[in-house]
Amino acid sequence: MTTTVYIPGDAGALSIGAGAVAQAITAEAQRRGARIALVRNGSRGAYWLEPLVEVVTSGGRQAYGPVTPAEVPALFAADFLNGGAHPLALGLTESLPWLKGQQRLTFERVGVIDPVSVADYVKHGGYQGLKRALSMAPGDIVQAITASGLRGRGGAAFPTGIKWQTVLEQTAAQKYITCNADEGDSGTFADRMLMEGDPLELIEGMTIAGLAVGATQGYIYLRAEYPHAHAALQAAIAAANAAGYLGADVAGAGKRFDVEVRLGAGAYICGEETSMLESLEGRRGEVRVRPPLPAVKGLFGQPTVVNNVVTLASVPWILAHGAQAYAQFGMGKSRGTLPIQLAGNIRRGGLVERAFGLTLRELLYDYGGGSATGKPIRAVQVGGPLGAYIPAAQFDTALDYEALAGIGAMLGHGGIVVFDDTVDMARMARYAMEFCAIESCGKCTPCRIGSTRGMEVIDRILAGVDGERNVRLLEELCETMVHGSLCGLGGMAPFPVQSALKYFREDFRARVG
Ligand SMILES: Cc1cc2nc3c(=O)[nH]c(=O)nc-3n(C[C@H](O)[C@H](O)[C@H](O)COP(=O)(O)O)c2cc1C
Ligand code: SF4
Repeated sequence: MTTTVYIPGDAGALSIGAGAVAQAITAEAQRRGARIALVRNGSRGAYWLEPLVEVVTSGGRQAYGPVTPAEVPALFAADFLNGGAHPLALGLTESLPWLKGQQRLTFERVGVIDPVSVADYVKHGGYQGLKRALSMAPGDIVQAITASGLRGRGGAAFPTGIKWQTVLEQTAAQKYITCNADEGDSGTFADRMLMEGDPLELIEGMTIAGLAVGATQGYIYLRAEYPHAHAALQAAIAAANAAGYLGADVAGAGKRFDVEVRLGAGAYICGEETSMLESLEGRRGEVRVRPPLPAVKGLFGQPTVVNNVVTLASVPWILAHGAQAYAQFGMGKSRGTLPIQLAGNIRRGGLVERAFGLTLRELLYDYGGGSATGKPIRAVQVGGPLGAYIPAAQFDTALDYEALAGIGAMLGHGGIVVFDDTVDMARMARYAMEFCAIESCGKCTPCRIGSTRGMEVIDRILAGVDGERNVRLLEELCETMVHGSLCGLGGMAPFPVQSALKYFREDFRARVG
C-alpha cells in the first residue's frame, strides 16, 4: 500500500528545514521498504508548527510537527504512516484549533492540495467559478463582484467591482489584467503563500477578470525575491495551458486568455500600481501622475485592471458560491474574509483567514498566543511599514477598514507586526523615515527630501538635542509629507511616526528631558 505524505514546499517551511525533512522521510522510507507518495503542498499557515508533516490515513490527514530530520526514524518506528502515536503527533489536521476557528474561503485549498496539479485543483472545487463566469455576460460578472462587496486587498481597499466596471466601459483593441504580486510590506506573506500553495486559484481569478472586462492578456508582476512562488506559478501556468484552461480556447468556450509572469525590480515603490506599470513596461519604477487612471490608460496606454493577488484569488470563490454568500461574511463596508498575517514578536505566527470584524486582541491572544518572549505586547504595526503603531489600549478595535481608519490606522494588506514592551518607539519612528528615504522614487520633494530631513530630526531628538523644538519640527514635517506627497509612500510614511508621537510620547520625552 502506498501512503500519501504531505510536506510543504512553501518558502517559509523550507526556511526552517522542510526540504531536509522531505529528504529524510524519503530516505527512511526507502531503507524500510515503505511505499510513500510525497506531495509538496503549500503551508497551512501555522508557521510555528512547520515543518508540518501530514499523513493520509483511513481516518483522515494526521499532522505531525514541528518535525526535524533527526526525529524521522522515531516517527517511522512509531508507525506514523498509519497515524501512530508520537510526541509530535497533533491529531487530525482539520481539528487543529488554529485552523478550525478560521473561515478559509480564499485559502481553502492552500496546504490541502498539490499546488500545481489541475486535477487536484478541480477535485477540490477549482474552476467552478470560471465555469459559472463562462455562462454569464461580462457585465453580470462585474455586477457579481460589485454585489459581493469585494474591496482591494493590496492596501487601498478600493471596490473591485467599480474598477472592473471602468475597464469594461472602455473601448480598446487590447485590455490587460495585471496582478500586483510585489508584496513589499513588512510582515506580509499572504500573496506568497497563496501563489505557492494554490497558484491556480490566482490564475482562475485573472481569467475570470479577463472575461469580465474583455481582456485577453494577464501579467503577474512578481516580487523577484519569491523564487518558490515563481516556480509554482510557472508550473501552474503550464499545467493550466496543457489542460485547456488558458490559451486560445479557455475551457472550450472559444475565449482567449494568457498569463505571463514578470519579475519585479526589487524596489518597494514598484508595488505602487503606476510604478508597477512603468516597471512592467521596462522602465524604472517611478510613480505616474493620475489621472489618467490605469483603468482608463494603464499598461502600454491601454485600459488595465490592477489587482492584488488576494483580491484576484478571492474571485473564483465569489463566482462559484455567489456574491451573497461572500457578502454574508464581514462587517459594515468590509465584506468577506481577510487573510491576516501575524508576524514579529508573536508566539504562534502565521496566516489567519477570518471574516472582517474580529478584534486585534482576539487575533493576538487567541490565535497568536501572546508575544514570543512572554513579555506584554506593547504595540502592533498594522498594514505594513506605512501603517500606524497601535497601542495595547486599542486592541479591542475590530479588524475592519473603517474601524481602523477611525483610530488613525489602516488595515492595508492585513500584515500585523508585534512588539513587546522592550520596543523603543522613537527608534521605530526613525526607522519609518529611514525606510521612506531609502525607498522613495524621488519624484516629489516632500517625500524625497522630507524623509531624509525627518531622519535627521529624529536623530537629533534621540541624541537629546533641542528636544521640544525638534519634536514640533517633526510634527510639522509629517503634516507636510502627508499633504504634499504625490503617492502613498511619502503620504503615509508619517503615519507610524505620528502614531509613535501620539501614543508613545514617553519614548521621545525620555530624550527631550
Ligand atoms: C508605496 C506603495 C506600495 C504598494 N505596494 C503594493 C504591493 O506590494 N502589492 C499590492 O498589491 N499593492 C500595493 N500597493 C497598492 C497598489 O498601489 C494598488 O492599490 C493595488 O495593487 C490595487 O489592487 P487592489 O485593488 O486589488 O488592492 C502599494 C501602494 C503604495 C502607495
Ligand atoms: S511620495 Fe515618494 S515614492 Fe511617491 S511619488 Fe513622491 S517621491 Fe515617489
